[in-house]
Amino acid sequence: MKLWLDGGLQDIESARVSVFDHGLTVGDGVFETVKAVEGRPFALTRHLDRLTRSARGLGLVDPDLDEVRRACAAVLEANPMPLGRLRITYTGGHGPLGSDRGDLGPTLVVALGATARRPDSTAAITVPWTRNERGAVTGLKTTSYAENVVALARASQQGASEALFANTVGQLCEGTGSNVFVVLDGEIHTPPLASGCLAGITRALTIEWAAAKETDLPLDVLEHADEIFLTSTLRDIQAVHRVDGRALPAAPGPVTAKAMRVFDERSGDDLDP
Ligand SMILES: Cc1ncc(COP(=O)(O)O)c(C=O)c1O
Repeated sequence: MKLWLDGGLQDIESARVSVFDHGLTVGDGVFETVKAVEGRPFALTRHLDRLTRSARGLGLVDPDLDEVRRACAAVLEANPMPLGRLRITYTGGHGPLGSDRGDLGPTLVVALGATARRPDSTAAITVPWTRNERGAVTGLKTTSYAENVVALARASQQGASEALFANTVGQLCEGTGSNVFVVLDGEIHTPPLASGCLAGITRALTIEWAAAKETDLPLDVLEHADEIFLTSTLRDIQAVHRVDGRALPAAPGPVTAKAMRVFDERSGDDLDP
């Protein structure tokens, strides 16, 4: 297996990043996860736009997107697989042990892992911890994901694959690595970006392709929504068949099933929508 580091392909066994990399010491970095089907990345332009936005939000120099594109192509070509998780990581680079950043320049890693197609439905839980809709890094896809690690571990312990957060004012926000949608009276709703959620690429495509509305929603909408689904790069659209103690045995319900069909069709038609 090969990954991209320091401007070229390297063997994963011997590739090395400094132990003083600011991404490692303080989580000063941003990332993207891109789906790759038969070696072809999906929605790469949108992912690279968000990578740049996240980097700017942290005050990192803009990533060299020509290099990132070359890196993605090289890594995909070197590691053929049916379904891949292409991971772009861009950090503050070698730095001091505190929160101040060094000036030796950023680190770029592009790596690929094999993954399997997700099931059409899954279980989720809610967690008591909040997303901060007013934080310095709200809306940025940073490598500071420890809160998500903790919440996802709790979901796993409870037999679920995702944990859903409210924000500080009790509105439904997002999952650890997904956006959340609900169906109410036949209409699809998802929290607005002001809720503090990540501007998910699958979320944006679902809003466009399935005519979903952005609506402030209380967390307890999950107790009575007719249907619930998650969106993310590797889930696409995935129905929720249980949330906490509530079963939704019909999942995917009719509205979700239709959105899933439309998403499959549209994403198959255009690899870089
Ligand atoms: C916190 C968070 N929310 C939502 C998403 C979904 O975004 P996307 O559809 O771009 O994968 C992700 C990432 O995958 C995420 O990390």
